[in-house]
Amino acid sequence: MNDLFEIPVSNLTLEEAKTELAHLAKEIQRHDVLYYLKDRPEISDADYDHLRGRNSAIEKRFPELVRKDSPTFRVGARVVSQFHKVRHQKPMYSLDNAFDEVDVREFLSRVIRFLGLSEEAPLEIVAEPKIDGLAANLHYQKGQFHLGATRGDGEVGEDITENLKTISDIPRQISLGDEMGIRGEVYMKHSDFMAINAEREAQGEPVFANPRNAAAGSLRQLDARITAARPLHFFAYACDDVKCLPVSSHWAFLESLKTLGFVVNPLAKLCQNVEDALSYYEDLKTSRANLTYDIDGVVFKINRLDYQERLGFSARAPRWAIAYKFPAEQAQTILKEIVIQVGRTGTLTPVAHLQAVTVGGVVVSRATLHNEDEITRKDVRVGDTVFIQRAGDVIPQVLGAILEKRPSQSAPFSFPTVCPICGSHAIRFPGEVARKCIGGLICPAQVSLRLRHFVSRGAFDIEGLGSKHIDAFFEKGLLKTPVDIFTLEARDSKSLTPLRLQEGWGGQSVQNLFEAINRRREIPLSRFIYALGIPQIGEATSKLLARHYQSFEAFETSIIGAQNPESEAFQDLIGIDGIGSSMAEDLIAFFDEPHNREIIQSLLSEIKILEAERPQTSTHPLFGKSVVFTGTLENMSRSEAKARAEILGAKVSSSVSKKTDFVVVGKDAGSKVKDAEKYDIPILNEEDWEKMSQK
Ligand code: IVH
Repeated sequence: MNDLFEIPVSNLTLEEAKTELAHLAKEIQRHDVLYYLKDRPEISDADYDHLRGRNSAIEKRFPELVRKDSPTFRVGARVVSQFHKVRHQKPMYSLDNAFDEVDVREFLSRVIRFLGLSEEAPLEIVAEPKIDGLAANLHYQKGQFHLGATRGDGEVGEDITENLKTISDIPRQISLGDEMGIRGEVYMKHSDFMAINAEREAQGEPVFANPRNAAAGSLRQLDARITAARPLHFFAYACDDVKCLPVSSHWAFLESLKTLGFVVNPLAKLCQNVEDALSYYEDLKTSRANLTYDIDGVVFKINRLDYQERLGFSARAPRWAIAYKFPAEQAQTILKEIVIQVGRTGTLTPVAHLQAVTVGGVVVSRATLHNEDEITRKDVRVGDTVFIQRAGDVIPQVLGAILEKRPSQSAPFSFPTVCPICGSHAIRFPGEVARKCIGGLICPAQVSLRLRHFVSRGAFDIEGLGSKHIDAFFEKGLLKTPVDIFTLEARDSKSLTPLRLQEGWGGQSVQNLFEAINRRREIPLSRFIYALGIPQIGEATSKLLARHYQSFEAFETSIIGAQNPESEAFQDLIGIDGIGSSMAEDLIAFFDEPHNREIIQSLLSEIKILEAERPQTSTHPLFGKSVVFTGTLENMSRSEAKARAEILGAKVSSSVSKKTDFVVVGKDAGSKVKDAEKYDIPILNEEDWEKMSQK
């Protein structure tokens, strides 16, 4: 099986993706021959589907790498996606997950804090089954269903209107003229899934691994007649705009959906409080086996739509809903080896190499053991039979060993105290769980991984500078820090052994590489932040930071200023939605390290960082304005006021400067009022603010 299986597609480098696609093309071809011609499949259908799924996921991320012999184009392939792309009028958000009761309670506390409610205030929650299918958006215009799309990446989906029209649960016409987008889940019932698979088996066709795949495969048919022959269903559960129907609660919204002719899940329940909601979850967990379709958890939604509107959305999910997943799928297998990997930041991570096993339809041969303490705590040893688990999309984990099955000669694992890559000391700093290689810039694992990250797709995205080149340049001493990428050409022109004379390179390819590098001398702020490779600061967070700080200068100054947790800069940083205190610590630590600041400084002499664009233009009076809040607002928490300002395109700062446009003053306001007066900045009271921030 493929060794790269467990690297999430989003982490693959261009080179790795290329290698894996080549491997997958060969492997899938081999399995097709075994299955179709020799009737001697070596792997289960679920594993086969996984290979294909992985192949298309990689192709989707790296469309330029799609091979001529890609399995996607071959017979035996599920049909190629050639649907038109459609941009959703409003993004199709995903949901944040809760994995235990504590997560659910924390979610509700966040809601209560955000809305500024008291703990005792009533807060109704609608609980619904989380259907394990595919989300779709149905767009109605003048009462007609005229455009239906898959979720896609949330912003852009595929036009599957004709296929959706074959689903009888979806009304073609509704008695409501307004334009609106109804959202819900397409799914297949167990009995239909089994009947289809039985038929496919009889026809010698490969069977579907699960009802979700069957529903997806059926919806993805280019010929809608095939979809029509597949019994698909649809549960409606959301709208693209809270105000799409004249109701004031989600519960009433569901009722109206029924009146309009949609099918709403009959198990949805209006809960009065968290206890109610949690017992709904427990009941459904037990009774889910009796359902005629798959569900993978429960979705909790705040019932009042005015609350939903105020809560709004964070970067990827609504703040008014959460998915409480059912526990993860588990399996037993043998731990063959514990291999220590060294990451970009020097952290030594133990990875369990396992005898391959299928867990929830996916073949798993690697799992994380997290860190040294985890291994000690669980006392897992090479040769042990272990329990592993996959929860959602997260990397599989080793839960523990089955002691009765332990081989007699086994020994506890001893964690290395030197880096397996560069031989430097690997040290655990006080209070840290991770052991880190202190080799920093001499540790090839770290340097080359950092450089690979720096040029990766979401970061500088330098075409033609793949991991192989990075490693080779590093070995030759040509690249040590990111800035070396931008001085490569100048140094090369003076070199006695220029690249174009070296093996594997020609005049043209060297020229192409330099051009690709030069094209990236201007870079958007969010990409630059992401490229720095700060622990925990991924693409989405980098976007949040860029949007908040707008310019690199402001970002850097604020993070450096945030070293003091009492400072406004620190409060401002953790006040950004989506930035928690542990992320803030990593950001601060990064800028606290003089070496990192030097690298940034030298980079700035080679590149230009573009200011972040404002989200969109608007005529709202708050758009593009800088607002400072001070004192306590009566009707709205500070987070809500900030979120509202940001939605309207304003930037919320924590201190008053000449650049501030408005200061909103609540009760017990402090010195900021004086600052505002000093600079002659308009002061708004809470009432003014409420009027002004109306949408
Ligand atoms: S509400 C803006 N309700 O779960 C919120 N989603 O993991 C829209 N899902 O993308 C989602 N059952 O495809 C909602 N009753 C339900 C759901 C549900 C299944 C899916 C949906 C979503 C995914 C997030």
